[in-house]
Amino acid sequence: MAVFSSQTQPSDTRTVPRHVAIIMDGNGRWARGRGRPRTMGHRAGVDAVRRTIEASVALGIEYLTLYGFSTENWKRPESEVSDLMGLLRLFLKRELATLHKNGIKIRIIGDRSRFADDIRALLDKAEEQTSGNTRLNLTIALSYGARAEIAHAMREIARKVAAGEISADAITEDIIEQNLSTVGIPDPDLLIRTSGEQRISNFLLWQSAYTEFIFEDVLWPDFDRAHLEKAIDNFAGRERRFGAVI
Ligand code: IPE
Ligand code: IPE
Ligand code: MG
Repeated sequence: MAVFSSQTQPSDTRTVPRHVAIIMDGNGRWARGRGRPRTMGHRAGVDAVRRTIEASVALGIEYLTLYGFSTENWKRPESEVSDLMGLLRLFLKRELATLHKNGIKIRIIGDRSRFADDIRALLDKAEEQTSGNTRLNLTIALSYGARAEIAHAMREIARKVAAGEISADAITEDIIEQNLSTVGIPDPDLLIRTSGEQRISNFLLWQSAYTEFIFEDVLWPDFDRAHLEKAIDNFAGRERRFGAVI
């Protein structure tokens, strides 16, 4: 992958959401439609990840969050989980240098204790190496579940209360946010789910309180820049009220 071409055209007057989150769904169906094993769909899904990161940089998106593997996905057959781990390993090894060269700052959210040691080390390295970058904040949700994330935050806060660091009455929305894995990342403005399913599947439950949702009928391996631009155009036409009267 080459150096990503820079920025939107001067004529591009789109209102680009600051933070786009994507539930990348439909790899299995994409493969089944071709009479291929599910793993081929996951492999093609990695190409779509690459395309989407590149398009996000080009469109001037500041934060991109990708749902790669859920807490619940560990329930899949061992062979599929192992294929997905292999692809994750390969992606991290092959893409890190390019992502770094392109100024992408990587952050991983989710329970990484469940990953093999070498994958954990690759995840740590990706975060460390890219920590000073500023062009695109790429967050990858791996072994992530929003309920698990919230439960973790509750435990952290309960510990602080028990230790007398804060009082129960001082627990605010800000305190909860500070104990989520997404601390420091603005809430998503736009959430896209591919594959036609219209559900959130335990992704960013707290953070998506006022996010705009777009459900696209495309299967994730077919997702490209045109789909992203279409979603952004759709987003630009929405009126966000945040509960107020405009
Ligand atoms: C998304 O595609 C990838 C992961 C959840 C890891 P799926 O594997 O869920 O594909 P479908 O939904 O079965 O088509
Ligand atoms: C959501 O997709 C998780 C990811 C895309 C990583 P799933 O395919 O796991 O969701 P369900 O099972 O259809 O709700
Ligand atoms: Mg799915």
